[in-house]
Amino acid sequence: MVKKEKDVFLINTNDLSYVFHIDKTGLVIHDYFGKKIDLVDFDIKPLSLKHDFAKGTSVIYDEKIDNQLSMDHVLLEFSFPHKGDFRSTPVLLKNEKFGYVFDFKYRDFEIREAKPLEGLPTPHDANEELVVFLEDKVAQVVVELHYLVFEEANVIARNIVIVNNGELPLTVLKALSYQLDLVNKEFELTTLSGGWVSEMNQQIQDIKEGKYSIESKTGFSSARFNPFFMIKEKRANLDSGDVYSFNLIYSGNHLAEIELTHYGLLRVEAGINPFCFEYLLNKEERFETPYAVLTYSNKGINGARLNMHHFTNNHVIPSQWNGTLRPVVINNWEATAFKFKENKLVSLAKDAKKFGAELFVLDDGWFGQRNNDFAGLGDYNVNKKKLPHGLEGLSKKIHKNGMKFGLWFEPEGINPDSDCYRAHPDWAIKCVEREPSLSRHELLMDLTKIEVQDYIIGNVSSILEKANIDYVKWDMNRNVSDITFGNYLPGEFYHRYILGLYRILDTLVKKFPQVLFEGCASGGNRFDLGVLSYFPQIWTSDDTDGHERLTIQSGTYLGYPLSTVSAHVSCSPSQSMLRKTPIDTRFNLAMFGDFGYELFFSELPKLDKRRCLANIAVYKKYREIFQFGDFYELDSHSDNFKKWQVLSKDRKTSLVGHFNVLQKSNAPECHLDTKGLLDNQKYDVEVVKQEIDIREFGSLINALTPFHVNPNGWLVRLLAKFKTIPGDDYKCQVYGSVLNNSGLVIHPEWSGNGLNDKVRVMRDFGSRLYIINAHEEN
Ligand code: DGJ
Repeated sequence: MVKKEKDVFLINTNDLSYVFHIDKTGLVIHDYFGKKIDLVDFDIKPLSLKHDFAKGTSVIYDEKIDNQLSMDHVLLEFSFPHKGDFRSTPVLLKNEKFGYVFDFKYRDFEIREAKPLEGLPTPHDANEELVVFLEDKVAQVVVELHYLVFEEANVIARNIVIVNNGELPLTVLKALSYQLDLVNKEFELTTLSGGWVSEMNQQIQDIKEGKYSIESKTGFSSARFNPFFMIKEKRANLDSGDVYSFNLIYSGNHLAEIELTHYGLLRVEAGINPFCFEYLLNKEERFETPYAVLTYSNKGINGARLNMHHFTNNHVIPSQWNGTLRPVVINNWEATAFKFKENKLVSLAKDAKKFGAELFVLDDGWFGQRNNDFAGLGDYNVNKKKLPHGLEGLSKKIHKNGMKFGLWFEPEGINPDSDCYRAHPDWAIKCVEREPSLSRHELLMDLTKIEVQDYIIGNVSSILEKANIDYVKWDMNRNVSDITFGNYLPGEFYHRYILGLYRILDTLVKKFPQVLFEGCASGGNRFDLGVLSYFPQIWTSDDTDGHERLTIQSGTYLGYPLSTVSAHVSCSPSQSMLRKTPIDTRFNLAMFGDFGYELFFSELPKLDKRRCLANIAVYKKYREIFQFGDFYELDSHSDNFKKWQVLSKDRKTSLVGHFNVLQKSNAPECHLDTKGLLDNQKYDVEVVKQEIDIREFGSLINALTPFHVNPNGWLVRLLAKFKTIPGDDYKCQVYGSVLNNSGLVIHPEWSGNGLNDKVRVMRDFGSRLYIINAHEEN
């Protein structure tokens, strides 16, 4: 709900309020963003920052109206440079007459039904939109501040629009999407940084006087710094305290600036990175910045996380996929890479079906001369040596096997060794008279060109039309270099690429609404709300290692719901780390999201096969909760151990994962605790039982044998075929109040002795999954 009375604007959602007012100088002053509040007669004075005297050396904004007000010492809803505010400002403009000096004062406002942006994704189903118009009357430039209100999700989406009404061309040098000024409260900043096979690492730092920034200059949102970040009071924890989370609905270069001044004022702003950005606006042209997403919760990190999760599911991903169960995937990449033939794929699909897979995905290598990554990108003709019956033939066989069929594309990439490049060398991004730099032996297609966009739309469409395809994995495997330009400024290139990309994605997802699209960029190199506005899920990382995924997925869940997180079980040792991890852990991690496999089942040990069958049954039974339930991270009081929980909407069913990093000798007592269960409801609790290969016990096997055996010898190998050690068993009935408050004390962890059916043999990288169901009286 948006209200304007007197000069005060009040935005309320279910749990938060956002307040600002118009000052007598015409500046828009920010007053409050936090837990929901009431104002007496819209009187802003109790909330508003006082400026009863001008601090030494201040530049006074307009002495005739207020001889104490300096822009540098107030909270502003929108600020601009060269009028006394020396902090970072969200917009920088230039024209021939006024240079860099512009002065924006409040003009009027509008409360209306939300309107979508042109060419940029807009979150859907907003309750309403507030637009505040500011104007520089002299230069005839307007700045519009937009606020989309999402009451149930407790989110405000904001953007800034710049309109040139003047005769002179206007150059936009910086155009972020919002600025937010807050009074400092000993804040901490959490960002998500990383690289290939190591995305979404949480970095936490105290915010002191100074400036912090996160950015991408790769052309894409990138794994270097995800556009998501979080600012919380230092004392806030998982479940209480003030937490603000921010994200951007954009897939290109981005920048977030967080600046704390000596005067205790914190400025937060984010949007398109001004790096090599220069946009020209002629008379009556407008520049729309992408929407940014802001949320607040006083219920700690979990509270802010739930807001972002609900918002993304309900207002970002295409509505037809919200709540639609995602299929269990078998993807051939980690199994075969480029070396496959139709019969190999069909037999992989058949095996996978036995292990619960519902969708077979053919990854890279099906077209042109694509037998390795040196050639073929840009071409769409099927490789008949590998697929003699074409995609149609393979698709038919997969469907006949009772499965859906999915296909990999990398439409943004082009190999110089491709028919497409030979025919259209000018379709690749490269700077005139220079040799472009390759990455993974490829270049990028120049998506600023409409003919390139149409080539991609045409080719992908015709394959989707012909081959009965249910799913697309849309990959992109390099960063931008050697930027070029056409009939526009070079400073417009990066943004125009993203607009071109969005036109392609928008056209395809509207044309094929039944096709499930999954985004991918060498894993999570473009995991952002822009991509999610078209594709409801993203391949999170090429690292499927059973331990690395704990870090990667934990970071991802801070900003993105589980329904968007694609996670596969692959072989051990993992291809990315050569680390051995138990099959149950790989499963337990991949279950918290959109589950899939990426391996040859025939190469799995027998025990692992049994575990796959047992675990996939659990996943399928509770899939809706794993994908769309409320997610909480639970306090494990240790960096060496993590606890994740998902909870059904009716709060009657919950699943809790416990994940060890390294096993500790004499590990501390462990609780099975939860959030959000119904206090007065009786629940049945059970652990998903595991089995352990006897060889995991090494020479301790001798404690069980009447004579000494070689733990690496033939006898133990033979025995291991028939005999496993049963995992711990745990079942009980308990009220929700116990699980929510004290938690159950579960059985101790194995520590060198005392093996029985209650003791938890966790080992390094071990895990457990607990199932909690409302008890039904017979
Ligand atoms: C990178 C992706 O992240 C992988 O899953 C796989 O699709 C390869 N590309 C194929 O080239």
